[in-house]
Amino acid sequence: MEKALVKSFLGGIPNMFNGNNPYKDYKKIRDKMPIQRLSPMRWLVMKYDDAVSIMQNPSVSHWGQDTQTQFALFGKQSTMSKTMYAYAPEIDSPHRKKVLHGLAARNLKFEKVAMKLTAEKYIKECLSKGKFDFVSDFANPYTFETISRIIGIPEDDIPYLINLVGKLKNGYLTLINDLNPEDPIEKEFLIFLQKFIDNKSKTLDDDLASSLIESCKLAGESNEFALCLLLFLFYAGHDNMMNFLGNGFLSLYENQDVYNNLKNSPELIANCIDELLRYDSPVQFSLMFTKNDIVVRNVKIVAGSQILVCIGSANRDPEKFENPEEIKIDRNPQHLSYGFGAYRCIGARLAQLQSATAFEVLISNLDIDHLKVSNTSWKNEQYIQRGPKKIIVSINK
Ligand code: HEM
Repeated sequence: MEKALVKSFLGGIPNMFNGNNPYKDYKKIRDKMPIQRLSPMRWLVMKYDDAVSIMQNPSVSHWGQDTQTQFALFGKQSTMSKTMYAYAPEIDSPHRKKVLHGLAARNLKFEKVAMKLTAEKYIKECLSKGKFDFVSDFANPYTFETISRIIGIPEDDIPYLINLVGKLKNGYLTLINDLNPEDPIEKEFLIFLQKFIDNKSKTLDDDLASSLIESCKLAGESNEFALCLLLFLFYAGHDNMMNFLGNGFLSLYENQDVYNNLKNSPELIANCIDELLRYDSPVQFSLMFTKNDIVVRNVKIVAGSQILVCIGSANRDPEKFENPEEIKIDRNPQHLSYGFGAYRCIGARLAQLQSATAFEVLISNLDIDHLKVSNTSWKNEQYIQRGPKKIIVSINK
């Protein structure tokens, strides 16, 4: 299995989808060939039921997060696989437990007020400009500030960091595998985080960084490993959330009746978050590896294969969702954007709270009839994540 797995891991998302709007392409492929073999050991799965059956099949590994696949794929030494493994449900991981505890509802309830104030601060700045970029002026700083506060970054350092991470060329995940980068910006960010962790470990606090530093100490892991765990949280809590807010804002702009419904009945916003996630998820694919042979829709997929489960397509499968191309506020959908089953996202509660707060503030402050959106561009590295790079919004009074 080992050789086959390593071979199948190479290669990204097939170049078959329009990066700006992949949904028409998804539909064509889903209707014609819901499971297809991209190469001898790579498969693409487009339908909801197949996605669910794969996601909960014990013979399938999520992102290589189990002992067998992890060691076959990366070897024991890869920091990336070790970091992801630390958050996986397979083992009784102390690090995963700390994050689950830190993001539990009772611990998050105090965050709502701070999130609201943060969102209000940034929307006020946007309004005073008259013309603003939704991504860099709102979604980026709001989501970064929120996850930084939960991690325990000192308030005074947040503006400096927002500016610094805005210049990171390759995002957070690549840093996990290269803690000694050449790039001066990457270096500066890592030096900041290393100092931050060193200081925190002297006086542990009531935040996620302290919990993870503690769990690393107890597990005999270094502060460097705590740094990797934090980088993953920045990726999940900042990149994912920023992309989701961008996707959700555009979806509402393009569906003004839904926007106005939410404006008239803001109590429906929290419910609508799941529908927005179904409609346009920031996570478009899940990467699975078969540990044993499996059968999906009468097709045999042999052990050691890679399966790309297209979450974006499954979320618009008409056999699961009636009129899937429509946003329905009261649908309450069982979407797959957070994954499914034991591996489901452990930050989902935070994501719901944070995005509901953002949309409450946006909708109460922005009148859709006076908004004009132009110059939207999409991040071009269309791999797993989907999100806008820029959304220029003008306000006509
Ligand atoms: C809209 C926002 C988000 C989406 C769509 C999302 C989606 C996902 C998905 C699809 C997975 C993998 C599930 C699988 O393996 O099958 C995941 C795992 C995870 N997510 Fe999220 N997520 C979001 C926000 C967050 C936030 C805010 C945090 C917390 C800081 C977070 C932390 C994590 C962690 C720690 C994992 C586990 C990673 C692992 O298993 O190694 N996520 N998320």
